Amino acid sequence: MDYEICEAHDLADGAMRTVEVGGHKILLVRDGGRYHAVGATCPHAGAPLADGVLQAGVVRCPWHKAAFSLSTGKCVEPPAVDDLPRFAVRVVDGRVMLTVPEQSGLEPMAHGPSDARCMVIIGAGAAGAIAAQTLRGAGFSGRVVMVGLEEALPYDRTVLSKYALSGRKGGEKTPLQDEAFYARHRIERRTGRVVSLDTEARTITFEDGRSLGYDSALLATGGVPRPFDVPGHALSGVHLLRTPADAEAIVKTAEGARRAVVVGAGFIGLEAAASLRERGLDVTVIAPQTAPLEDRLGTEIGNVFRRVHEREGIVFQLGQQVEALEGEDGRVSRVRLKGGAVLEADLVLAGLGVTPATDLFRGARREDGGLAVDAHLKVVDGLYAAGDIAAFPLYGDGPRTRVEHWRVAEQHGRIAALNMIGQATPYDAVPVFWTIGFLKRLDYVGHAATWDDVVVDGDLEKPEFLAFYVEGGTVKALAGWGRDQQMAEAVGFMAQRQDWTVPELLQALT
Ligand SMILES: Cc1cc2nc3c(=O)[nH]c(=O)nc-3n(C[C@H](O)[C@H](O)[C@H](O)COP(=O)(O)OP(=O)(O)OC[C@H]3O[C@@H](n4cnc5c(N)ncnc54)[C@H](O)[C@@H]3O)c2cc1C
Ligand code: FES
Repeated sequence: MDYEICEAHDLADGAMRTVEVGGHKILLVRDGGRYHAVGATCPHAGAPLADGVLQAGVVRCPWHKAAFSLSTGKCVEPPAVDDLPRFAVRVVDGRVMLTVPEQSGLEPMAHGPSDARCMVIIGAGAAGAIAAQTLRGAGFSGRVVMVGLEEALPYDRTVLSKYALSGRKGGEKTPLQDEAFYARHRIERRTGRVVSLDTEARTITFEDGRSLGYDSALLATGGVPRPFDVPGHALSGVHLLRTPADAEAIVKTAEGARRAVVVGAGFIGLEAAASLRERGLDVTVIAPQTAPLEDRLGTEIGNVFRRVHEREGIVFQLGQQVEALEGEDGRVSRVRLKGGAVLEADLVLAGLGVTPATDLFRGARREDGGLAVDAHLKVVDGLYAAGDIAAFPLYGDGPRTRVEHWRVAEQHGRIAALNMIGQATPYDAVPVFWTIGFLKRLDYVGHAATWDDVVVDGDLEKPEFLAFYVEGGTVKALAGWGRDQQMAEAVGFMAQRQDWTVPELLQALT
């Protein structure tokens, strides 16, 4: 059915507007004189795309920065895993007309000519799941086998420290796809541990002795939480967090608990602390650093997090380390610090980071446990690596870097899949991640392992700011709080070039 929307000149070039027509929320966009109409809601977690930014024919989501082509509706950058519906739009006698329902549904995957090859994906997390669906999206018609340790459908791990622990509901789509999706696209899901990988014979072997040959394989085994190696770590009530089963166990302990101690002030520790506080527990965070998130964001921005969390009642014991956990009847009740102080605790959660799960391919393992890959994410002929385990050349030709973030893993999965089937595609994207505490999101674009200056634009007390991480006068990365649109723009700008100065980049950001 056709609907008349507005006068053509009502929509300025570069403008985006949400219209509701025939029960659909539609994003109407005028870009370079052409009109486009796509779904107005981001399929990742429901952000209004009209609040995002338009750059080079792509609309970028204001929240976690997924990007969609306006001309095809296709998702071109994660974390969304689905495309946008597209609607026919035309101008008749100076008026914009829309045709509803959409031109194409959410079933973009075409199967190409028959192919005898077998692609094996070891790991069914962020990188693995996206790799599997990309193989089909790119038209690969051979066999696709995706192996994971857990029986559950691939899920969004990032919600575990946020909504799964707090009991709030987030908008993120999880599981990533339903059972019918994998069946429809002939993606074979296997549960089991792969214990060896023979890159000469191109065979993997499972724990139960079965083996499977492959033409190309992707290793996407993620990270293993660092163990909390102190006396008393095996007491009940002491937890690590990586899987939904871990989150369920933490929630069970939290239900009968009053006091929680979180060990570690990295992203997972802080998110978990906020979630447990939201459940009403008294929460203390212990870490050796002088500010939370110090290693990644520096002391100044780390202290923003500290203040926000303290305002919500979280207590920090920084510059401290745990000596032992103590308890009665096998259950934790105290945390003894190296300085001698003792904290009461019914729940202890350790967020000490992860080590790359690369036991399967020790030969190519680097000192930090990662696997060195080239710009096409190739380890050796026939074997690719993606996600937390991959040490990749930053921006395609930079220093080898490992990034433990969801969106990067998904992008890796996509690029690795294209390379597995011979569509030579380098991974040269800008790393992007986010963290959430008390429903406020910090976005981070770029990568700065080191920096010599942090330049702040905005108000750290409020907080509402951009922080530029600068080395040798060049912006390596920026973090933003309450600056959704500018951070969305920054993804595009940092992709164009990596030699911005702060004044140049600030001027470019609207
Ligand atoms: C609680 C939590 C919250 C997070 N929040 C955020 C966030 O807000 N933002 C962000 O950017 N990042 C976040 N991260 C980090 C993000 O989840 C990871 O960077 C991302 O999951 C890495 O993807 P991956 O595909 O490399 O590994 P994973 O997603 O961990 O997947 C690994 C897969 O490999 C399988 N596997 C492992 N070993 C074997 C084997 N031997 N045989 C067979 N299968 C195997 C596992 O079962 C799993 O399916 C969070 C992580 C956690 C734990
Ligand atoms: S809601 Fe759009 S990327 Fe998350």
